[in-house]
Amino acid sequence: MANVDVTTRIDELRALLHRYNYEYFVLDAPTVSDAEFDELMNELRRLEAEHPELITADSPTQRIGAEPSSAFSTIRHEIPMLSLSNVTSEQEVRDWVDRVYRLSGHQSVAFVTEPKIDGSAVSIIYRDGVLERGATRGDGVTGEDVTTNIKTVRNVPLRITPLQEEIEVPTVLEVRGEIYMRRSDFEELNRRRLDAGETPFANPRNSAAGSLRQLDPRLTAARPLRLYSYGVGYAEGNVPGTHFEQIEMLRALGFPVTDNARLCETLDEVWRECESWLEVRNDLDYEIDGVVIKVNDLNLQTELGAVSREPRWATAYKFPAIQKTTVINDIEINVGRTGSLNPVAILEPVEIGGVTVRRATLHNEDEIERLGVMIGDTVVVERAGDVIPKIIAVVEAKRDGSERPFSMPDQCPVCGAQAVRLEGEVARECVNVSCPARLREQVRHFVSRGAMDIEGFGSKLAVRFVDLGLISDFSDIYDLDWDQVGQLEGFGAKSIENLQQSIETSKQQPLSRLINALGIRHIGERNARALAHHFRTMDRLLHASREELELIPGIGSVVAEAVFDFIQEPKNRELISRLEQLGLRMDEGEQAAGRADGALSGKTVVLTGRLDRLTRTQATEYLEQAGAQVTSSVSRKTDLVIVGADPGSKADRARDLEVTIISEDELLELLQNDGIVESGQ
Ligand code: IVH
Repeated sequence: MANVDVTTRIDELRALLHRYNYEYFVLDAPTVSDAEFDELMNELRRLEAEHPELITADSPTQRIGAEPSSAFSTIRHEIPMLSLSNVTSEQEVRDWVDRVYRLSGHQSVAFVTEPKIDGSAVSIIYRDGVLERGATRGDGVTGEDVTTNIKTVRNVPLRITPLQEEIEVPTVLEVRGEIYMRRSDFEELNRRRLDAGETPFANPRNSAAGSLRQLDPRLTAARPLRLYSYGVGYAEGNVPGTHFEQIEMLRALGFPVTDNARLCETLDEVWRECESWLEVRNDLDYEIDGVVIKVNDLNLQTELGAVSREPRWATAYKFPAIQKTTVINDIEINVGRTGSLNPVAILEPVEIGGVTVRRATLHNEDEIERLGVMIGDTVVVERAGDVIPKIIAVVEAKRDGSERPFSMPDQCPVCGAQAVRLEGEVARECVNVSCPARLREQVRHFVSRGAMDIEGFGSKLAVRFVDLGLISDFSDIYDLDWDQVGQLEGFGAKSIENLQQSIETSKQQPLSRLINALGIRHIGERNARALAHHFRTMDRLLHASREELELIPGIGSVVAEAVFDFIQEPKNRELISRLEQLGLRMDEGEQAAGRADGALSGKTVVLTGRLDRLTRTQATEYLEQAGAQVTSSVSRKTDLVIVGADPGSKADRARDLEVTIISEDELLELLQNDGIVESGQ
């Protein structure tokens, strides 16, 4: 090949490789296969090897390959990299915005909200469009030069290639952002590490920060790092005057930015954005620890300035921490309603998200072994939303040798019978079917709020009646010996009358509550509702086949099996028929069913991603009114997936299974057509 041809071909290859890389890592929409990509890359490597004089620092071949260094050199940031103040509640967000109004002397200030991704902050400088230097934040004034490592991050442009030719590239441009790891990539990385006998990383953030600071760039290159750019630092040349436009400029220059920066004109809008991120944080494929709120106008930013390294023009709304550390004082065994022995950690009380947590489930002995928990250990406890607190990890560094190992008892702590672990089961179970602990728990559950909801019949009363022998199965609740109750301490005529009344009222609870109350293994409120919606009457449920059960949306084979075993057991059928004779309602009724003739009737629907116009709860309610059933995971039984912004793996799964996908707007349209919501919502 003549030299001019070589130069042309090299340019061509670089442009193609750049484009494919951008499509893959920035747009998440590859247009060529990995093999085609590799082939082009190999061709470029070969040509560059033959003509080393043509190698440039921004060639795609130069991402990986630099030699390890012994230390990073220190650099000074042209403009300090500030950190962010925090606000943690709606009131604090409002106070902060009010303060901006006051300090600026304006009553209307536009803000931009964007996700605060949890990773490691970086500064990347481009001169004449070519990546010149990448640095860590360090202490904000000086950082470490990690240029060779940054260059291995696949969505970091080595040379700025504007998406449209007419876009002007500033002569000097410092892009600021966060290096992070996607959850899915992190999990995959840990899987590989475990396979290779290496210790897994604790979380995506540590793993990203650690990977960025490897002295051998080849190690960094092997880690699935990504850049999220959220702003411009120092610049020479034309840059726009608002933050929102700067984000758009970065996008147009080929940088990865969020699709979900939102321009908010009012305080209410700002808060609504914060809330909506909180709602979806667990569904995203990246970890966010809050929402950054920034004044949009850059002149106003400068005017507001900074105090003690924190700008007055930006703050982070930090989500309530869902993890805290505390100490395990003891491990107790609870005997559940199926007779399973459940280990529970008794914790040094700790406040998580406004609730004092004193106990956390340890699930079973496998979990205790997996975590390596001992009594006296310092542990990380997580309480996410309404979920029961659980132990995530042991902080081994806090051990002082006084910790005691725990082993599961082989006797039931309540009745003393043997506790055995059946093959294929994770739980140890008390073999005594009439163990008082089981009955106590069963009755407690039966009368509880989510089940038959018998007012005035609390846990304590349930346990007392069981222990006194007044209740030996659920039917006794409706056939109590009131003379005997009347002789108990604390029972006057009035309280007996009230209790009788609420027991009587509970007979009218719909089938779904009764199914839940029966305490069938794996059946909670949601599954009970799915069964009741499907069968409508107890009689039909009792005649269900295993196959029919498996076909119900939201019910998998394990659950179907448990229900089938339950309804096949003669003792259970006798109990149900006694309950019926005692006057309990055995059907679901129509009112909860929602519309039967709309476009969404009978459809099984999954919501994923961030909705803009509805909250999750609203969307679920509307869908149910429209006769649809909302489930949490996408399967072949799913009819429809509603995809909001930043959907997680559920959207991918929907595409794989070729399930129909619609947007929030399309959903609203369907709801409007069905008369569930008014137009204009
Ligand atoms: S703005 C003065 N925007 O949060 C403004 N920071 O303490 C400073 N971060 O580690 C940063 N997402 O890297 C900004 N959308 C975002 C961000 C963000 C994550 C990180 C930042 C730094 C910390 C700020």
